[in-house]
Order: sequence, then structure tokens, then C-alpha cells
Amino acid sequence: MEELLQKIELYKQEIEAYKAADAESAEEFRIKYLGTKGLVKSIMGEMKQVPGDRKKEFGQILNDFKQFAENKYELLKTASDGGTTEVKNLKDYSLPGDQLPLGSRHPLSLVRNRIVSIFQRLGFSVAEGPEIEDDWHNFTALNLPENHPARDMQDTFYINQKPDWLLRTHTSSVQVREMEKGQLPIRIICPGRVYRNETISARAHCFFHQVEGLYIDENVSFADLKQTVYFFVQEMFGKEVRVRFRPSYFPFTEPSAEMDISCTICGGDGCQLCKHSGWVEILGCGMVHPQLLENCGINSNKYTGFAFGMGVERITQIKYNVNDLRMYSQNDVRFLKQFTAGI
Ligand code: PHE
Repeated sequence: MEELLQKIELYKQEIEAYKAADAESAEEFRIKYLGTKGLVKSIMGEMKQVPGDRKKEFGQILNDFKQFAENKYELLKTASDGGTTEVKNLKDYSLPGDQLPLGSRHPLSLVRNRIVSIFQRLGFSVAEGPEIEDDWHNFTALNLPENHPARDMQDTFYINQKPDWLLRTHTSSVQVREMEKGQLPIRIICPGRVYRNETISARAHCFFHQVEGLYIDENVSFADLKQTVYFFVQEMFGKEVRVRFRPSYFPFTEPSAEMDISCTICGGDGCQLCKHSGWVEILGCGMVHPQLLENCGINSNKYTGFAFGMGVERITQIKYNVNDLRMYSQNDVRFLKQFTAGI
């Protein structure tokens, strides 16, 4: 067996070194190594000597050897064939090339970018802030003093070492930071990741993404708010979509509302997405509470404003009928590659 292996090694070296100037010597090579009485055949004939438990291993070695000789023959043939070796080695130039799989943006990034660009067309610019916030910017400045029941609505991750610090529960904290700068008017949208202490399920996650908006100037009214978010809905979901506002409560807006759109899946007839009501909730909004303006050093007698906030996961769910939130973070390519075009 070892002898056989050595023999093969030797033949390989011979084959490697073989040169053929013309078609004839290529043919000689073929007869010597690959012919019916050639060396490859005869080595294969020695298979019977190989003990049973090594037959499989040896079979593989023989196959490789045969392949090696055949490859060399192909090379010799083309080399002796008018110097067109390279072209022939590449086989057929007219075949299409190998396809490189292209990556694509995550559906949440696509939808966030779309939301941002719609508001940018209305003159909003993007503002960003830290994900680790302090109590003031996330809660207190927004009219949620300690022990305010509304804090329960936003189960919060606190940072043990620094009790005053937390993972922001909404990007309203960015709005506070902008208001504190005192440069008016303000017309911003705040996209970003936010965190809430929820058990992970199809309908909840411990983090999600928001885009919140804020507009503060003289004479900003609820009509401006309605028209702005209505414009957004039409651009995002199409002109045929209807909207409705329901009174709601947020500590930082007064009056507050929740906006629903007619269900984009069933058109209002009733389906799983809209829980057979015909409507799906897409954002919270309202007129900025005067106390909030004062907290941030803005004269509430002179200025008014509106704010709104939406979840990017939710908008994506409605737009693409994604029925399990966990899909966004599972990195399953079969899911992700469905979102490459059309947005
Ligand atoms: N901050 C609110 C939330 O996270 C959303 C919101 C923003 C509601 C602005 C009204 C106005 O739920």
C-alpha cells in the first residue's frame, strides 16, 4: 500500500513535468497515462492489493490521481493547439459570469429612511441624541415627575451604577435637548432606537425604533399637525388611505390624539392586522404642553407647537404585513432579501 502511494507520487511528478510541443506529444501523453493500457488504469488494477479497511481512502486517492492526469491532458491539448490556452482554459467566454449575491438594507432602515425623507420634504431636519439618557430629558422635563403614573406606561431599564441614568424609552428626550438650545423655530424629526422592559414576543420587544417629530413656532395649530401627519400617511401608504384621530393622553401634549389609518391589508373590511376593526393605529400626537415649553425655557405665551411619535417596526409591519416582530432581529436572509426594491 505504501509502495503504491509512492508510485502515485512519482507519476504525479512526472505528469507535472510533462511538456508537449504539439498535438502528437499530447496524444502520446494520453496513451501513456490515460489509455486502456495506460498507467492510471494499471494503478487502478492494483486496488485488489489494498486491505479492505483502506479501500475507501485509497479509492479517493486514485480518483484524484486520475483527475490530475486528465487535467494535465486538457492543458497539453490546448497548449499544442495554436496558443489559445488561456481562452480555452476559461472554457466559454460567452457564458454569463458568476452572480455575486448583493446585500441590502434592513427593512427597518429602508422604512426609517422613507419616513425621514417624507418629513424632510416638509422642511423637517434630523436631530439625534444619546441612547443612555438622564431622568430629566427622558421624563421630568416631559412632565412626568417622579411617581407619575404615566411612567408605568414605559417600563424602563435603569442603570444600576447611576440611578439617574436609563436607556431612553422614547426619542422625545431628543426633542427636549433641542428645545433647551433655545433656537426657534424648531422643526425636527428624531429617529432612533428606544428601549422598554418588555418580555419578547411576536408583538413586543425590549427595544424598537421610533421617529418622533416636533414643530414649534408662533401660531402653530392643531390643523397644522393634522395636515402634516395626513401628508405623511398619504406619501407612505397611498392617497386612498383614510385617517381618523382618537382623543388620547400623553403627559407632554395637550390635547393629545392617536391617529389610525384605514387598514391597508383589507381596505377596512376587517382582517387579522386590524383585528377586524378596519383601522390600525399608527402614531401618537398632540399639541406640546405649555408646561413643557416652560421647562425648556421657551415662552409658552408666544410659542406653540405640535409633536408626534411613531414606531418604525409598526409602520413596516403595516406596510409589508409582517406579522411577527421577532423577524426583524433574527437575521434570516430569506426574510431580509424580500425588501431590496420598491422603496
Ligand atoms: N413619546 C411617545 C411614546 O413614546 C410618542 C409621542 C410623541 C406621543 C409625541 C405624542 C407626541 O409613546
